[in-house]
Parts: sequence; structure tokens; C-alpha cells
Amino acid sequence: MSPSLSRRTALRCAGWGAGLLTGLRCAPDARAGAPVAVPLHALLAELDELSAALQRAELDGVDWQLRAQTLLCGVAPDELRAALELDWASLAARTQTAGRAELRLEPGELRGCPSTPRFRRKLFALGPGHAIVPHGHRNLVSAFLVLDGRVRGRHFDRLRDDPEAILIRPTQDRSFAPGDCAAISDRVDNVHWFTALDAPALLFNVSVTLPPRLQLRGSSTGRVYLDPEGEALEGGLIRAPRSTLSDLRAKYDGSGR
Ligand SMILES: [Fe+2]
Repeated sequence: MSPSLSRRTALRCAGWGAGLLTGLRCAPDARAGAPVAVPLHALLAELDELSAALQRAELDGVDWQLRAQTLLCGVAPDELRAALELDWASLAARTQTAGRAELRLEPGELRGCPSTPRFRRKLFALGPGHAIVPHGHRNLVSAFLVLDGRVRGRHFDRLRDDPEAILIRPTQDRSFAPGDCAAISDRVDNVHWFTALDAPALLFNVSVTLPPRLQLRGSSTGRVYLDPEGEALEGGLIRAPRSTLSDLRAKYDGSGR
């Protein structure tokens, strides 16, 4: 088994992270375990240390992916939501109007967050049927925690970039409820896609740009947009044509797909 597959198994929260936390909440079998009450500020401090270690290249992107997902799985969604000091009415209005809203969080908007965090923080609000359309990232690690609602979360490994298309392999397609989390890196589950199901959904996101020494995809960062409803190939692989944010939103955002 390749290291990435072995790590993928761990990413499914099948017990990895004993050194950090036990009783993970992100998989049904893990949620059956006794909850671990770790204060939010302690989890965020640990995530900050983890992100600083990544920036110093003391661990790689997949290590961060595993550990950040484990940490987020230890966050009680109600506690994190209660720690957000936001204009909730404004966020709700924006979501209602546009179907979705994306909000960068200042450290002061999240009680318990270090004052100069080494990880970026965002909220994504999605009306029913609205989507964070399929995309991959360059030289970035990122983790999500569902705070509210249910989303369909799809992930794909990104195997090869061609000029017109990207070769991908589906890895996860499941429903995420509050408390469930996922993470991506350049090597594992690089392409993700979230669609809100039957109620407005709220997702908390953290991300870190890889330091130059760890960058696998040239020296640039940013998203790459692609359409996973591409050409089906042998072995379950997909040749996903490159696309644009506007085209993908026209096809998927608000459609429930
Ligand atoms: Fe993303």
C-alpha cells in the first residue's frame, strides 16, 4: 500500500491521532466514542502550532492535513459557532440574496483564536442546493468543519494536470453533518466540492499556504476549476475538463447537484 493510501485510511478518522486526541467525532464509529472536552482555545492554539510547523517545513502537507482534520474533529460545532462574534443578520441576508456567502474571519471575530494566527479562517454559508463548486488548490492545505446543516461533500485525488483537463479519481462522496470534517492537500483529496442539502449550511474553514520548500505545483497558489462530470475512464478515473468559476456556478450552484 502506498503511503498516500495508508494516510488516506487515517484521514477517514479510523483511529489516527491517538497522540493528539481520542474519541474523534468525524466518523460515525468515532462519534460513538466518549466525547473529549478540549477547550476551543486549546484546539486553536494547537492548530496554530501545527500551522507554524508546516510553515517551517518541519512537517509536510499531508501531515498537516491529518492532524488538522483530527483537531477540527475535536471541536464542538455549537461551541465554535458560539465563539463567532459576527453580524449574523448581515451574513444571513447576504446568503439569502446570493444563495451563498463567504466571509474571512479576523482573529478578533473568533473568541479563543490566537491574536496572530498562522492559519487563515473563513466561513462559508450556503443556501439549500447551493455549492462550493468543484475546484482544486495549488500549494495549499485546507480543512473544513460543518457547523450547521448538512452538505454533500465530494473529494477527488488530482492525478495529472493536462492543458485542457485534469485526471482525477473520486475518493469520497458522502453527507457531512455538524461536527463532521474533511481536509485536503496537494497529494490527497486535492479537489473538493460541497453542496448544501436540505437546509442552510455553515462551514468553518482553515487553510495554510505551503512554504516554498514544500511546494509541489510550481510556485503559484490559487484555485483550479474543473468539471468532475467529465469523461469516465477505466479504473474509475475521470478526465475532468478545466472550467471557470462562472461556468461551474451556472451548472451546479443552486441546482442541488
Ligand atoms: Fe477549496
